[in-house]
Amino acid sequence: MSLKNKVVVVYGGGGAVGGAVARAFAREGARLFLAGRRLGHSEAVAQDIASAGGSADAAAVDALDEQAVDRHLQSVIDRAGRIDIAFNAIGIPGTNILGVPLVELQVEQFFLPIMTYARAYFLIARLAARRMVANHAGVIMTVTTQHSRMGLPLSGGYGPAMAAEEALTRVLSAELAPQGIRVVGLRPQAIPETDTLKEAFEIRTKVTGMSWEQFQESLARNTHARRLMTLAEMANVAVFMASDQASGMTGTTVNLTMGTLDD
Ligand SMILES: NC(=O)c1ccc[n+]([C@@H]2O[C@H](COP(=O)([O-])OP(=O)(O)OC[C@H]3O[C@@H](n4cnc5c(N)ncnc54)[C@H](OP(=O)(O)O)[C@@H]3O)[C@@H](O)[C@H]2O)c1
Repeated sequence: MSLKNKVVVVYGGGGAVGGAVARAFAREGARLFLAGRRLGHSEAVAQDIASAGGSADAAAVDALDEQAVDRHLQSVIDRAGRIDIAFNAIGIPGTNILGVPLVELQVEQFFLPIMTYARAYFLIARLAARRMVANHAGVIMTVTTQHSRMGLPLSGGYGPAMAAEEALTRVLSAELAPQGIRVVGLRPQAIPETDTLKEAFEIRTKVTGMSWEQFQESLARNTHARRLMTLAEMANVAVFMASDQASGMTGTTVNLTMGTLDD
């Protein structure tokens, strides 16, 4: 029970990564508030958590809307008294982002992931930090991918968006850690259980002609373990990073690329 009684908001809590993190946090005793664009997705995860004996509420919150994020955080404070952990797991479909060579990419298409991921993370972190400062404690977390540090073709503005998040993690920590707030990211390897990876495959197979198995093998080949990641493996690390056991970790992104990227 490493997160017993911690009050947690997971943005994108109805998604694959956010849902797995929320379930794992709930198993460790946290009280969950799930926020997502569409209520139904977050509600399904909240119901799973409640059925397993945990505590979770769901709300429709657009993480790009400053007023909506602020109102929701205030409602969490009103109900639970504080916020201990804010976890940003939002993700947008790759359809409008991936698969187009940079020389053919429209400027709006290039900036869509940069504006979306950076804006959501900035708003969530800033508005949560304002509440955490009062308690001189808190953890702000986000999720990126290896695109932040690798030149991968046909990924448009996705890599710059992931790099922006990792840079923001460092800057947030530099300002907030003196006030007792840790800021940490996770950079997981691709997770085959998720629709996100299946969508990335669908987009690329039109260009490469690879099968789903060949696509996974091509990614796994670059890892030391010669395999990709599971949601459970990613969520286990998220639990540790959110817990007081990781009190020495801030201003950094945990490299979960399974050896693909050197530190
Ligand atoms: N899947 C992987 O293999 C993998 C690996 C490494 C890193 N990641 C990263 O993990 C993050 C999440 O990925 P995922 O696979 O979990 O994606 P996902 O299953 O599509 O989940 C994304 C979630 O974000 C929510 N969302 C999108 N825009 C939002 C907004 N404006 N306000 C509030 N919620 C919003 C969606 O809400 P609705 O459901 O309501 O639409 C959805 O629940 C992404 O940043 C991705 O890059 C994923």
